[in-house]
Amino acid sequence: MSGINQGNINLKGRDFLKLLDFTPEEILYLLDLAADLKDKKEKGIPVDTLRGKNVALIFEKTSTRTRCSFEVAAHDLGMGCTYLDPSGSQIGKKESIADTARVLAGMFEGIEYRGYGQEIVEELARYSKVPVWNGLTNEFHPTQMLADLLTIREHFGYLKGIKLTYMGDARYNMGNSWMVACAKMGMHFTACTTEKYFPDVELVEECKQIAAENGGSITLTEDVQIGTENVDVIYTDVWVSMGEPDEVWEERIRDLSPYQVNRAVMENAGEKAIFMHCLPAFHDLKTKIGEQISEKFGIDEMEVTDEVFESSQSLVFEEAENRMHTIKAVMAATL
Ligand code: CP
Ligand code: NVA
Repeated sequence: MSGINQGNINLKGRDFLKLLDFTPEEILYLLDLAADLKDKKEKGIPVDTLRGKNVALIFEKTSTRTRCSFEVAAHDLGMGCTYLDPSGSQIGKKESIADTARVLAGMFEGIEYRGYGQEIVEELARYSKVPVWNGLTNEFHPTQMLADLLTIREHFGYLKGIKLTYMGDARYNMGNSWMVACAKMGMHFTACTTEKYFPDVELVEECKQIAAENGGSITLTEDVQIGTENVDVIYTDVWVSMGEPDEVWEERIRDLSPYQVNRAVMENAGEKAIFMHCLPAFHDLKTKIGEQISEKFGIDEMEVTDEVFESSQSLVFEEAENRMHTIKAVMAATL
């Protein structure tokens, strides 16, 4: 479709639920396709070869980037799309996931799902005869990984051997996803956080094996100096994720403040290092939650300082744009 050489890789009909399900070659294929689609969009060359198809977007949690990426990408590819918001459908309340999957698969050629447990999107896929794409679960955020890998490759020119340090809650969707992505792509992953927030032991073991096959590595450390020294990418995410209760803020601020990405961390990483964040980020007081936290706990910045967020080392808006190009590639490849 995009003029790219598919080689022997064919993802038609495949679900996109987590990177663990994909080989490094398949992930690279998606990145190449995304780069090609991005180039075509920039040159004004239309790629609307999925005309006449329709996709359903189920969001049980809120979104700016993921929703807009799916909608714009679907339109660019010539498709229609229907957005089901967190309160606007019967899913899980009056209708089971299995029934929803079979209903939607009868009307749409693909289904995106953002919500809670990974088992929900896996069940949706099991009962759906059309591809299902994970738009974020508690455990994984695979479309974010494609955007971030593309951004890193655009910046450094390669992925293999890149050293990436994840700071903050490494047990949740972003920490897990990065550990898997690095293992698959032969990158060196470090979770730099307090032990309580280290990723799940079984997933760590699985990723260590995958990393060994691909020339990457997995490190867990509580030491900020060691964990961030001379690395290529410093990555962080919000300290409290969607769906978690407000009560955990106090504990998270206490536990994770030592792992804030600030000038000292970036200086330790070195001049060539870049800062990345999936967004949204709490780096100032321009949000309602940011203001509330400031009033309650007396802090103006959380996981990243405004200085780092706004610095020339920060690639957060490049990442955000790449969400659209990579999500387009996932739909184009699987439909
Ligand atoms: N990064 C990300 O998934 O953003 P949204 O929650 O806005 O979709
Ligand atoms: N960990 C965050 C990621 C947001 C893109 C959350 O789940 O809210």
